[in-house]
Order: sequence, then C-alpha cells, then structure tokens
Amino acid sequence: MKYFYLENYGCQMNRADSNSLIHSLRDIGFIQTDDVKKSDSIIINTCSVREHAEERVFGRVRYFASIKRRFNKNLKIIIMGCMAQTSKDILYSFGADNVFDVYNEIDIAQYLKSDILDEKEFNKDYVFHKPYIDDIYTHKAFLPITHGCDNWCSYCIVPHTRGHLLSRKSSEILEGIKQLIGEGAKDITLLGQNVNSYGLDIDDITFTDLLYEIDKIIGDNDIWLKFMTSHPKDFDKTIATAIRDLSSVCEHLHLPFQSGSNRILNVMNRKYTIEEYLEKVSFLRDVDSSFVLSTDIIVGFALETESEFQETLNVVTNIGFEEAYLYRYSERPLTVASQKNIPYDVDKGKDMLSRLIEVQRKVSHDLLSKQVGKTLKVMIDFIAKDKKNYLAKTRNNRSIIIDGSNGKTYTSGDIYNVQVKSIKGHSLMGEIV
Ligand code: SAH
Ligand code: SF4
Ligand code: F3S
Repeated sequence: MKYFYLENYGCQMNRADSNSLIHSLRDIGFIQTDDVKKSDSIIINTCSVREHAEERVFGRVRYFASIKRRFNKNLKIIIMGCMAQTSKDILYSFGADNVFDVYNEIDIAQYLKSDILDEKEFNKDYVFHKPYIDDIYTHKAFLPITHGCDNWCSYCIVPHTRGHLLSRKSSEILEGIKQLIGEGAKDITLLGQNVNSYGLDIDDITFTDLLYEIDKIIGDNDIWLKFMTSHPKDFDKTIATAIRDLSSVCEHLHLPFQSGSNRILNVMNRKYTIEEYLEKVSFLRDVDSSFVLSTDIIVGFALETESEFQETLNVVTNIGFEEAYLYRYSERPLTVASQKNIPYDVDKGKDMLSRLIEVQRKVSHDLLSKQVGKTLKVMIDFIAKDKKNYLAKTRNNRSIIIDGSNGKTYTSGDIYNVQVKSIKGHSLMGEIV
C-alpha cells in the first residue's frame, strides 16, 4: 500500500490539476492521506503569482525535507505547478526530489508507481486532463477550457509559467460536460486565465458559442454553469446576452479591473481604459439587473499616486463589487515590469491596501445588507466544520450560512429557497423556507 499527501496552492486551475492527479494516483492503487509521516510521497502543487505564495512553499519544502531526514529516508518530495518554472534550483536546494517542469499527470503518477523517470516523457505539449468531479465538493466540477495566457500583463508571471494560450477543442469540452453531468455534477465552472479569449488560437467556436452549446446539453436540468476569469478587453455584449438568455449560466461575473487609473492600466498592459470597463459593466447591468460582480485589484504598482489610488476607490464605490480580491503589487521575476525595473513603493502600497480593504469591506457589507429579509434560491455547498450549519451559494455567488439546528440534513448540490435573516462577516445567514 502506497500513501501520498498532497498540498495545493494557487488558482482553481491548480485545483483542477491536483484533482486529476489525485484520481490518476488512486487509479493505480495509491491512497491519499493527511498524515505526512505515514506518506511515501508528498506532492506540492505550487503558485508563483506573488512572492508570498512562493515563500510559503519554500517553508513547506524545508519542513518536509526535515521530516524526510528524521522519519523516512525514502520519502519523495515532488513539486509541480507554476513554481517549477521560476524556482526550480531553489526548490532542489531546499530538498525537493523532483520538480516537474510542465505538469503532466501521467508522468507524476507513472513516476511514483515505477520509480523510473523517462526523460523523453517531459516537456511535451500540454495535454488537457480528463475532467473529474471535485474531490472535496462532490457536486462541483472545474473544467479547464484553456491553458496559459497570451495577454502579457506587465506585472504577471502566469504567461511565463503556463505558456501561450491553448484552447481545448470544443468537442472535447462538450464531451467533458456530458461526462460530468452523468457523474452527478450540479455546479460546473469553466476555467481559464481569460476564458473570453477561448478559441482565438484554434479554428473552433467562440466562447459565446461554447456557452450556447453547453446550455443545450444541460437543457432543463437544474445545473449551474459558471466561468472564470473574464477579461475586460474581451468581454463583450454577446457574452452578456448569453448570460441573460441561457438558463444554465449563472448571473455572476468575475471581471478584474486591476486599477481605476488609465496611466496604471497602460503600464500594466491591460489593453482597456477604465471608461471602457465602466461601459461594459453598465451594459451588463442594463441587460440583466440581477448581476453580481466581483473583481481583482492591485495597488502600489508603478509608483501609483494618491490621486490615481482615489480613482480606484471611486470605481470600487461606484460599481459596488460584492467581493473583491485585493493585492499589493509584488514584483515577479521574468515579467516586463521586473525587467524594465518599473518602480514601486512598498510602504505606500501597504497603506493603500489597508485603506482599500476598509472601503471594500463597507461596500460589501452595504450590498449584502440589502439582501436581509429576501428569499434567495441556493445550492447547498457543504456542511460546516461545526457540523451544525450548512454553507450554500446563490446563483450569483453570494455565500449563505444555513441554520442546521433544526436537526434536518441537507445534501450538497440540492437546491432550496432560503430566507435571509442577518449578516455575519462576509456571509448571509438564513433559514430554509
Ligand atoms: N487571469 C486572471 C487572474 C490571474 S492571477 C486575470 O487576468 O484576471 C489573479 C490575480 O492576481 C490578478 O487578477 C491580479 O489581480 C493578481 N496578480 C497577478 N500578478 C500579481 C502581482 N505581480 N502582484 C500582485 N498581484 C498580482
Ligand atoms: Fe496574468 Fe494578465 Fe494573463 Fe491574467 S490576463 S493571467 S493577469 S497576464
Ligand atoms: Fe498561481 Fe499559476 Fe494559477 S502562478 S494563480 S497557480 S496559473
């Protein structure tokens, strides 16, 4: 019996990759464990997007290397994911046994099975993995439709770690959808660094057409279709209309704007102006008023001035994002920003970030407060750790905690109406009606 322990960092793409690997390791008889000391191999799926993410992994590799020295000389420490491109030598120096350049589940599973590394197997073209239902949320599935990114935002390492945009054949995606529905998926997310640019690199249908084709397969089944991430330069009216017209597609959009200042957007190489962004959002809201938006923002880039920062704050308050992922700029190797030494001020960035967090917290709270008293349709996600409450999501991605003290049990993927009673932190609290 061989045991493996897996830690995952980074975005949902990594999550989908880890999930595929878990399944292929199980298929060849490996057992997943939470107990590091019991495991024969440790796999870390890594992220390079910010320095902090990398530092955590360095710490973990050192820790696992010490476990190896003390308890199990045969333990294998395997690294996959984006850091393999950026930090290979350091990872080896900290005690990694293998750092897999281009992630390939067959290589890793085969390697752990046979102990033999066939070098010819590596650096071949990227192959999309068979999709699987998520290992933790068994009603959910993540289906990568593109790999890599060709946008080359000047601050971002992703095009360097994952390579050029590569779209998956639409026939393969549609097969994947059928397979996942057959296996019981109720909540399917199409994944890509910029899903709106799906198909631009191959002779196939567009992203909008893909949504229509998937919706046909889903038909009258109550299956929720989501996608992320969208890019403001490629998000267009046809996608907005598809979201309105297709019953399976959820009314939520993650549309990072990164900065409210046109100077900064230009230095970032984002290829849109803030006016264009605002126009797209206003079109979207005209098309479907139930829309909920979330976003990503970076502060402290390119010596952002106070007035440029104010422009970002204005967008945050005027648009009203229910959720926003807020980051201080982190310089990454290989990027244009680091090669051109685009300057930034760490202290100013820290200050801007904490002020932005405050403003966003209030915006989210005010928007969520408006939901109190309403009855919302939700899908049960999972039972909370306290075994008392359930966590659920609305179609437009609001989180809601459901009181489970009535002793009833609810199953993941089931859909209910919930009356919102109050707000706790970033979640709504409600009762099933
Ligand atoms: N492809 C997606 C997301 C990529 S990474 C997109 O373009 O929207 C997720 C988020 O991390 C980005 O949206 C950005 O806000 C943030 N990010 C990327 N590189 C960063 C860096 N060097 N420093 C700080 N935040 C960064
Ligand atoms: Fe990075 Fe920009 Fe591509 Fe997103 S769109 S992955 S931020 S280069
Ligand atoms: Fe991180 Fe790579 Fe995803 S850098 S955000 S794991 S694409």
